[in-house]
Amino acid sequence: MGVNAVEVRGLSRSFDGRDILRDVSFTVGHGEIFGYLGPNGAGKTTTIRILLGLLAPGAGEVRVLGRDLAADDDARARVGVLFENNGLADRMSAAGNLAYYAGLYGVEDPAERIDELLALVDLADRRDDPVGTFSTGMKRKLGIARAILHRPEVVFFDEPSSGLDPGAQRMVRDLIVELSRREEMTVFLNSHHLDEVQRICSTVAILAEGRIRAFDSVANLTRASGRPAVTLSLAGPGDRACEVVGNLPYVTECDADGDHLRCTLADPGATPDLVAALVGAGFRIEEVRRSSRSLEEIYLEHVGQAEGGA
Ligand SMILES: Nc1ncnc2c1ncn2[C@@H]1O[C@H](COP(=O)(O)OP(=O)(O)O)[C@@H](O)[C@H]1O
Ligand SMILES: [Mg+2]
Repeated sequence: MGVNAVEVRGLSRSFDGRDILRDVSFTVGHGEIFGYLGPNGAGKTTTIRILLGLLAPGAGEVRVLGRDLAADDDARARVGVLFENNGLADRMSAAGNLAYYAGLYGVEDPAERIDELLALVDLADRRDDPVGTFSTGMKRKLGIARAILHRPEVVFFDEPSSGLDPGAQRMVRDLIVELSRREEMTVFLNSHHLDEVQRICSTVAILAEGRIRAFDSVANLTRASGRPAVTLSLAGPGDRACEVVGNLPYVTECDADGDHLRCTLADPGATPDLVAALVGAGFRIEEVRRSSRSLEEIYLEHVGQAEGGA
């Protein structure tokens, strides 16, 4: 173990005789944004607590940056975490909260780092205001700044967008992507916001009923089972369009439904040719969409399966 940023092997944990995690295994590569998905109570926070060394595993092994954080203070200083409560003091200012943590972590040039992070999370103009006056979204952004103050190599975000309105969710999402690029951090993201995860994560694991139901890249999971497909909206009925494209060598199937045309392709790169063929035949196209399964569909398949079975 040790080549990945996070490694979990055969992890089990129970509370009061109830099995919460059962033989959970997955890895997170360096620099990835990893999405750890599962319904409420699945054991996501428990997994993070075990990874951080705050809770002992029942069985199995976990490593972060190749180390056991329960036994390694140096390694723990290379990791950051944001739990749902943000870890902020309401009566202190934004800058004061960060200064407090900078002291705890022994951050070098704290004033400079605090200015940099307040600018990054767009709170520079509120730096001296008490955090108690902040909106939920502002607190969350400051919590993120707090979690990465000491430039951790791996950062754990536990449901960072929970309780936020869509605008604030988007800010937090963009911020996480920006941070992972700028600070080259590995991000471990607990979430049940599936569209958020689909947009920003490279790899996901789906946890349900204590077990990992899926562990793969988002691209692999969402690739339409079987062949790639496109849906086209035409300015007019699509019946005759099916006759036109049905003869093209790279189209294996075509269905028309009103002004919508759905084509299954033998070659995923054939969409531009398909569009050109339709335009050449006199059709006017209003929209072209590549069909793939959403992460939500895949998630519900796995989680539904777990609820029905086990
Ligand atoms: N310290 C604890 N003592 C007893 N039960 C706990 C403890 N921590 C978590 N649990 C239980 O373990 C399950 C998983 O919790 P959690 O990891 O918080 O789930 P998630 O973060 O996926 O919503 C829940 O049923 C929760 O009640
Ligand atoms: Mg949780």
